[in-house]
Amino acid sequence: MALADLTGAEDMAAALRKLQDEWGPVAPVDLEPGVPGWLVLGHAEVMAVMRTESVFARDPRHWREQLPPESNLHAILSPTGRRNLYFADGVEHRRLRLPVDEAFSSMDEVRTAALVRGVCDGLIDAFATRGNADLIGEYAAAVSFLAVSGMFGFDEGQGFALLRCAMEIFGHGGDPVVALETMDRIVLDHVAATRAQPGQNLTARFIEHPAFEDDIEIGHTMVVAICAANEMLITWIAATLRRMLTDPRYTGRVTGVRRGLDDAMDETLWREPPVANLPARYAVTDCTLGQAHIKAGDAIVMGVAAANNDPRVRTADELFEAGNQSHLSFGVGPHACPAKRPGRLLVKIAVESLMKRLDLRLTDPEVTWAPSPWSRYPATLPVAFTPERTAARTPARV
Ligand code: HEM
Repeated sequence: MALADLTGAEDMAAALRKLQDEWGPVAPVDLEPGVPGWLVLGHAEVMAVMRTESVFARDPRHWREQLPPESNLHAILSPTGRRNLYFADGVEHRRLRLPVDEAFSSMDEVRTAALVRGVCDGLIDAFATRGNADLIGEYAAAVSFLAVSGMFGFDEGQGFALLRCAMEIFGHGGDPVVALETMDRIVLDHVAATRAQPGQNLTARFIEHPAFEDDIEIGHTMVVAICAANEMLITWIAATLRRMLTDPRYTGRVTGVRRGLDDAMDETLWREPPVANLPARYAVTDCTLGQAHIKAGDAIVMGVAAANNDPRVRTADELFEAGNQSHLSFGVGPHACPAKRPGRLLVKIAVESLMKRLDLRLTDPEVTWAPSPWSRYPATLPVAFTPERTAARTPARV
C-alpha cells in the first residue's frame, strides 16, 4: 500500500483501520511505489517516535534509501545541504529552534490579527459581489500563504510566487526540487533586502538573532516555516469550513454557547488532522516498535490521522474533542509545532471573516480530494451566497 493510496481513498479512516487490523500499530508501506517505509498507526507508538530522537532521528543522512532522481520525495525526505531545525537533531536542533520559538512567542497578536483580517477581507472583496466562489482556490490557499508570508514581510506578489513553490514541494504537481530552488532564491533575496531595510516582521527577528550563523540558515529556516505552515493551514481551514457548512450541529453558527467555531476547529484537528501522514524519522539503530522489527536506516512516517483515531485513546463521548489537546496534530517532543498559537489565530480569523460576512451555501457536497502522500484537502469547495452590492476594499497589510 502506498501512502498516496491512503490519502486518496474516499474513506481514509476506513483504509487506515483496515491497515491497522492487518498489521497492528506499525505497518509496512511504500512512501511512493518502490520506496519502502513504515507507517506508525498507534497513538502511543507515534508519541514514542516523536519523543525519542536518539532512536528516531530527523536527519535524513540516517536513511538507507537512495531515492531515484525522478522521485517526488526528495524535497521533503532527503534534500541535500539543508541547514534548518526541521532536518536537525539534538544540540544542533535546539540551536536552530531557539530563534523560531522566540520569534513566535513574542509575536504581537493584535498586529498579526490585523494583518490576517486585512488579507481575508481583501480576498473576500475579490468575489463578494459575484455571489459564488471556490473557497479553496480563491480563499483557503491564498489566505494561508499571504498571511504567513505577510508575517515574514513579503509582499503579495512574492506571496503568490512562494505559494506556487510550496504546493509543488508538497507534491501537488510540478517539480518539487526546482520549486525548492526557486523558493530559496526568493527567500534569500528577501533576507538581503530586509538586512538593508529592517521592518517589524519575522524575517527581521531572525536576522537579529545571534543563534543563526549566516543568511543560508535564516533562509532555510524560513522555507521550512513557510512550507510547514502552508499545507497545514489550507487543510485546517478547508476542513473546518466544510464542517461548519455541512454538519447540522454547526450549520450557520459562528459564535454561540454550544458547538461554535472553536469546537469545530478542535474536532477537525482530531478527525481530519492537517497532516495525515507526517514525514519522517529515520531509525538510528535496530529496534522494536509495536510488533514491528525496525532496522537501522529505515524511514518511519507518523500516521497522525490513524493515531488520533486510535480506539485506545478515543472514546465515543460526543464532547470528546472540544478543548481536548491530546491529539497529535501539532506533534509532540522536540519538533512539535512552534506556531500553534498563530496557526490557530489565523484559521479562526479566516473562517470567521468569511462566515460573518457571507451567507454561504455549499453548491456541491461531493468532495474530490487533492491528495499528496502526506495530506489531503478538497480540490474545490464551491459555494453560493447573496452577492454584496459593493465590496469594501481593505488594505491587506498593516
Ligand atoms: C503560522 C503557521 C505555522 C507555522 C509558521 C509553522 C511552523 C512550523 C515549523 C517551523 C515546524 C518545524 C519545527 C521543528 O522541526 O522543530 C513545524 C512543525 C510542525 N507543525 Fe507547524 N506551523 C504552522 C502551523 C501549523 C498548523 C496549523 C499545524 C497543524 C494543525 C501544524 C502542525 C505541525 C506539525 C505536525 C509539525 C511537525 C511535528 C513533528 O515533526 O514532530 N503547524 N511547524
